[in-house]
Amino acid sequence: MRARRGSRFGRIGLMVLAAAFTLTFAATTWAQTPAEINAALNAAYAKYKDIKEGKNADYIPALAKVNPNLFGIVLVTPDGKVYSVGDIKTEVSIQSISKVFTAAQVIQEQGLDSIANRIGVDATGARFNSIIAIEGVRTVVGAGAPEMNPLVNPGAISSTSMVKGATAAEVWKKIIGIHNDCAGRTLTVLQDVYKSESDTNQRNQAIGALMLAYGYIKSNWQQAVDLYTRQCSIGVNAKDLATMAATLANGGKNPVTAKQVIDAAKVPGVLAIMATAGLYDDSGKWLYRTGLPAKSGVGGGIIAVSPGKFGIAVISPPLDDAGNSVRAQKAIADISNALGGNPYAAKSR
Ligand code: DON
Repeated sequence: MRARRGSRFGRIGLMVLAAAFTLTFAATTWAQTPAEINAALNAAYAKYKDIKEGKNADYIPALAKVNPNLFGIVLVTPDGKVYSVGDIKTEVSIQSISKVFTAAQVIQEQGLDSIANRIGVDATGARFNSIIAIEGVRTVVGAGAPEMNPLVNPGAISSTSMVKGATAAEVWKKIIGIHNDCAGRTLTVLQDVYKSESDTNQRNQAIGALMLAYGYIKSNWQQAVDLYTRQCSIGVNAKDLATMAATLANGGKNPVTAKQVIDAAKVPGVLAIMATAGLYDDSGKWLYRTGLPAKSGVGGGIIAVSPGKFGIAVISPPLDDAGNSVRAQKAIADISNALGGNPYAAKSR
């Protein structure tokens, strides 16, 4: 009898312990309800949908024709739940956001040191297509010194050149492959954007040639510039981008398809280059306000990652002077702040 009562108390004790453990564990994880997440998205959408600041990119003629009123917000959590408001279906070109995933492909196949040693992982503090930044690095640090970043054009064209493959088709298969795996569907190139940028990308061709001359690109800079232009022309909607961001928020595993795309140990390096150069010369301001690794594209998209909590994406084409979507920056900052997304913010005990 005593023994039985003892075992019942033992079971109750175990249940109490388990409940205490669950409560403690839950208290240390992100605990936003779906209603809170939807409220944060809806509030940001309503607040910013009518603002008129910024202007579509027009140095790539096809981008000037995109509807400037397009506005969609999607947040995806590591358990694969998708929250959205606005236009989540219309595709824009991914542009510079592709730089993250091509760099991730290089890191995945060749390790974290490959990018750090060949290109560098520092902030350039310069515009995304700055040629002065290339010369500045050489002048200050010396020939071939890796002080660039794979998320600005010179570093990005160089990281595209690093993806291994005997032919351009083999390299492209890997580049589009990692984008597809992170988005969780088969993406396609927007041919009008690809043609428009190919016809007008003389500046990137100059950057490619310079990066070859200075040793960042080892051979065939023309192929690297062409594949880079193609990767920038991949069509994505806000849901694709948010799923890609959520893959990074979830240790490299796509939370919707459950495919492990990037080794978890390599993801912090990818997030670090987003923190140092994701919003170009405004990366510091952005990090100061949000704490979120992020990446913008001149097509109007921005992705941001709150590790372990959510990936978020906004598409809205009008850009500020640095080339970052005006509405997307404002909406993501508000939503993340409302939901406690800043990874630097810890509650004191
Ligand atoms: O190379 C370019 O200029 C474009 N394909 C990409 C630039 C870009 O997206 C910069 N983003 N904010």
